[in-house]
Amino acid sequence: MNFKDYIRVIPDYPQPGIRFKDITTLLNNGPAYKAAIDALKEMIKDLKIDLIAGPEARGFVIGAPLAYALGVGFVPIRKSGKLPGEVIEADYALEYGKDKLAMHKDAIQPGQKVLIADDLLATGGTIATSIHLIKELGGDIVGSVFLIELGYLPGREKLNGINVQSLIQYN
Ligand code: PRP
Repeated sequence: MNFKDYIRVIPDYPQPGIRFKDITTLLNNGPAYKAAIDALKEMIKDLKIDLIAGPEARGFVIGAPLAYALGVGFVPIRKSGKLPGEVIEADYALEYGKDKLAMHKDAIQPGQKVLIADDLLATGGTIATSIHLIKELGGDIVGSVFLIELGYLPGREKLNGINVQSLIQYN
């Protein structure tokens, strides 16, 4: 399947010069969404995974079905103020804009093997911050998996040796 056919590219959104990769068109198509999740599952089949962690909001639509398919738990990494329990937080910068990410302190037990999943690796800011939070909780990060990777941005280099796999690349 050529997954790019299902992704809509929107020029100048949300800012002039940005070619936004809109995954809602892929999610809207049942066979394409299923094939994408199945392909990501195949890419991580040799990893030993206890938990999948994914950042709000689009990381949920990739990470949660993968966790379901593997029969492992899913840990949401949320924007500040959304989690009701005790949290740890860290600041991060986005391709455009800035925010704070949070995780429940008891979401990961020290030594658990965690795979990070998200829809998009762009500057790597979101995932670098996620890595920081997961490590602070004692998680052992076994890799990261993305639906899309923007090869023209330095996301990969920012992830300090964490294994990166992506299904679709734009260069
Ligand atoms: C987008 C995307 C990734 C991140 C990638 O999320 O879903 O999580 O940006 O960019 P980066 O590699 O430069 O950090 P966004 O924060 O826009 O939130 P959303 O998923 O809630 O739309």
